[in-house]
Amino acid sequence: MAPFFHHIFICSFFLISSFAAHTTFRPKALILPVTKDPSTLQYVTKINQRTPLVPVTLTLDLGGQFMWANCYTNYVSSTYRPAHCRSAPCSLAKSTSCSIECPGAPKPGCNNTCGLMPDNTITRVATMGDLGSDLVAIPSTDGKNPGPVVTVPKFLFVCGSALDGLASGAVGMAGLGRTKISLPSQFSSAFSFRRIFAICLSSSSNSPGIVFFGDGPYRFLLNTDASSNLIYTPLIKNPVSTASAYTQGDASSEYFIGVKLIRINDKNVPVNKTLLKINRKGYGGTKISTVNPYTVLERSIYKAVIKAFRDALSGVARVASVAPFGLCFNSTGLGSTRVGPGVPQIDFVLQNDDVLWRIFGANSMVEVGGDVLCLGFVDGGVNPMTSIVIGGHQIEDNLLQFDLARSRLGFSSSLLFRQTTCANFNFTSNN
Ligand SMILES: *[C@@H]1O[C@H](CO)[C@@H](O)[C@H](O)[C@H]1NC(C)=O
Ligand SMILES: *[C@@H]1O[C@H](CO)[C@@H](O)[C@H](O)[C@H]1NC(C)=O
Ligand SMILES: *[C@@H]1O[C@H](CO)[C@@H](O)[C@H](O)[C@H]1NC(C)=O
Ligand SMILES: *[C@@H]1O[C@H](CO)[C@@H](O)[C@H](O)[C@H]1NC(C)=O
Repeated sequence: MAPFFHHIFICSFFLISSFAAHTTFRPKALILPVTKDPSTLQYVTKINQRTPLVPVTLTLDLGGQFMWANCYTNYVSSTYRPAHCRSAPCSLAKSTSCSIECPGAPKPGCNNTCGLMPDNTITRVATMGDLGSDLVAIPSTDGKNPGPVVTVPKFLFVCGSALDGLASGAVGMAGLGRTKISLPSQFSSAFSFRRIFAICLSSSSNSPGIVFFGDGPYRFLLNTDASSNLIYTPLIKNPVSTASAYTQGDASSEYFIGVKLIRINDKNVPVNKTLLKINRKGYGGTKISTVNPYTVLERSIYKAVIKAFRDALSGVARVASVAPFGLCFNSTGLGSTRVGPGVPQIDFVLQNDDVLWRIFGANSMVEVGGDVLCLGFVDGGVNPMTSIVIGGHQIEDNLLQFDLARSRLGFSSSLLFRQTTCANFNFTSNN
């Protein structure tokens, strides 16, 4: 009798555990690969959406409000649902408009749906779009490899049509910004993990970097956990929207940090401190952006940085500058280090003297051909809305973790110091 009983016990145990694995698998983190498009320098991701699933190519927009994609043409899906005017998704999305009249018959993107303004932040064109939902499938991760693919049946997105200027193949943008319907917010609420995500952009167009939704570990070959030893700084809210079109009273969905001072080779760069603060109209301050390939500085800051950098490198032969840059050198005069060309380090001093965002050669210098290296900062003109926009080149091969619950940014500094890069996530699945 006893062995038989034992056998039943094992069987039912097995049934329960496999049942549990299929129905209650709750991912702790999710991942999307991100590839740098060589012609536009946009960071592009692919997400599987719709039924049947199709890969949808989107330009990554760190401060973007939500996912938007063209669904007015070639959109076939049995799981698409319009967000009807005055429904819960419309209020979650803070929509204030309703489109009842459609050109032609009701279809995805127009069927008594509430409206939002998808913002093409590359061209700065915002158009009217319609809120809806569809199924999204995305790989989970243990922080080391991709794990089982999980689905979100009613993932909110906006139909938009302003595709001009996006990387080839892209049909919209993936917004990771500070809203309740951005990708990080929807994924954390779908799987009840903390509102944390991290980006790690690759400097190479041949091997992808990654976005992690959820907390670490974030492991890169050979066995570096980029979520350890992060430096933290508060994320600052800009009370005025920085979008191309917005409703009065909207806050910015972008991520701002408090740069207090700029130093080059440990010397302060003289800049107008007023420009480093966000004023009541939302002007000034420092934000991080993935849609700007290079850091953009308000003109007086730009001029001061160029001068200080030139002075610090006065021994090296300069060459004619190559647009969009204003300071270029003959690279044969520069040494090389583990973290790129041997040039003066640029520090963004944050909440106090000890919290520095330090930029080394790999992130400051851009190779523009043969033996020419240029300082990868560009002139943002006079009176731009944001004084410092830290762009893609400056954040490549650095891991940035955005903790929305604690409103703080954790950053790793250059992963090249740890002999790895953002292209070193092991995308080979365990299963
Ligand atoms: C429009 O919405 C209604 C109500 O949800 C739905 O029954 C109908 O099938 C939709 N029509 C189209 C063409 O999507
Ligand atoms: C500093 O910048 C502010 C804002 O643009 C401007 O009003 C002020 O005149 C500037 N101060 C100096 C000394 O240039
Ligand atoms: C850079 O310097 C090297 C060695 O002096 C020289 O041969 C080369 O022509 C220079 N290149 C440029 C673009 O000036
Ligand atoms: C990547 O992960 C796979 C699956 O776990 C493993 O077999 C492989 O050895 C890993 N690659 C490296 C270089 O560690």
